[in-house]
Amino acid sequence: MGSNGETQWNTSEIPAEEPDRQLYFVKKAAGIVKRENDRLGRMQTAAVITFGCQMNARDSEKLSGILRDIGYQPVESEHADFVIYNTCTVRDNANQRLYGRLGVAHAEKKKNPRMKIALCGCMMQEPSAVEKIKKSYGFVDIIFGTHNIFKLAELIVNSYEQQGMIIDLWDNTDKIVENLPVERKYPFKSGVNIMFGCDNFCSYCIVPYVRGRERSRRPSDILLEIERLVADGVKEVMLLGQNVNSYGKKPDYGMTFAGLLREVEKIEGLKRIRFMTSHPKDLSDELIAVMKQSDKICRHLHLPLQSGSSRLLKLMNRRYDKEQYLALALKLRREIPDISITTDIIVGFPGETEEDFQDTLDVVRRVQFDNAFTFIYSKRTGTPAAAMEDQVPEDVVHERFDRLLKLVQDTARSRAALMTGTVQEVLAEGMNEQDASLVTGRMSNNCLVHFPGTPDMIGGLYRILLSECRGFYYIGRLYDQEAEKHE
Ligand code: SAH
Ligand code: SF4
Ligand code: F3S
Repeated sequence: MGSNGETQWNTSEIPAEEPDRQLYFVKKAAGIVKRENDRLGRMQTAAVITFGCQMNARDSEKLSGILRDIGYQPVESEHADFVIYNTCTVRDNANQRLYGRLGVAHAEKKKNPRMKIALCGCMMQEPSAVEKIKKSYGFVDIIFGTHNIFKLAELIVNSYEQQGMIIDLWDNTDKIVENLPVERKYPFKSGVNIMFGCDNFCSYCIVPYVRGRERSRRPSDILLEIERLVADGVKEVMLLGQNVNSYGKKPDYGMTFAGLLREVEKIEGLKRIRFMTSHPKDLSDELIAVMKQSDKICRHLHLPLQSGSSRLLKLMNRRYDKEQYLALALKLRREIPDISITTDIIVGFPGETEEDFQDTLDVVRRVQFDNAFTFIYSKRTGTPAAAMEDQVPEDVVHERFDRLLKLVQDTARSRAALMTGTVQEVLAEGMNEQDASLVTGRMSNNCLVHFPGTPDMIGGLYRILLSECRGFYYIGRLYDQEAEKHE
């Protein structure tokens, strides 16, 4: 008998191979949840709370799929019977936000002592964070990392069978488990992992330590997944990887990222292809050529700059310099004139001088980014940059950050305004949150448009006249729909 009176499973019946092993545990967990439902006379609920990037968002869809198959009813907040936080640790503020939310979960657990709280994702791959949770957040039931999210059902079963915190952390893995359940957030668009991990070791970045070594998924697995998504109504896919431009190198599938895009393009019924993130050092001419010819690849490239100073780029281990970045960005603008280029910039990297910062401003002015995410450098323990001298004083960093933000907002605004009066294809993504008579959609270049419409239009592609630019987004109206219907 297990510690709480549940019957222990006969281990000989547990399949050894994945995904069968997890499908077995999904069934077992479903039995437990059903018993809880019967006991309480209500459905058990579960919330997946996600921090961080698109990779984490996609992982959360997998967690949600497993929870759905176990029989939990999905809810949004910590007022739930099962809460899982999929954590991020790329900057310290992500960690601080998690600790805040754990306080909320703890208050809920005091009201509902059978509630279970789980933590997974990037922050859990850091031993110091796990130590802190064990020491000060003893009410947490399950901890696992980025390499074994597919094991959620098994860990839930363990947590009902055993006393104490269940901790299952792997340092690394070369395994990719295919064909697990997934619950998509949007019916009409989906992220698709094409690779996991990162081998670039930019000196400020913790991702390679918490996500492990780079490994690509087999092209056939990716294409099959997209075909299934399209059959299920998906019109747009976002191919995900920390550095998609090195797709297919590890393991060597004899296929480049550009080659993969060509194959994805052939999938009938798929309308739009996006991808994230491109590392400038690996962006090939072949990729530019494929994008240029394509009808489906969106006119958007996210190309993180990080800094405009060649001196800092070297210290950052980015493996390109200011001139190479500028040449690449300007080539993209020349080859694909309607492309939007967005970027990430870090302010206050150790040793950053005013002159280095001026180089960053110079690149922003010359490339005219359509949008830029600006970050204040955050020291991540264990990365080479954390040990560098000359950490920049906080007031200097903030002052530079404000100057950069103003410049990127000005350039983004002037870039956005260029499309006023044109007709663009827009994917309707949802109803406007402030005004229920408007639909919010996205253009190929990733810009948002609001236009009069109804909920049944969500998921459809429409030709929209961009009548007015309001800073970073547009107000538009349907163009020519009647004419199109007769085509
Ligand atoms: N793989 C992607 C980036 C993933 S992290 C790439 O290489 O482009 C997303 C962004 O977070 C990075 O582009 C960087 O700008 C920022 N970032 C990463 N580590 C950071 C740190 N220690 N402090 C501040 N920003 C950081
Ligand atoms: Fe981090 Fe660099 Fe890898 Fe991006 S490429 S995840 S910034 S180490
Ligand atoms: Fe954060 Fe992990 Fe993504 S650290 S940014 S969630 S890869």
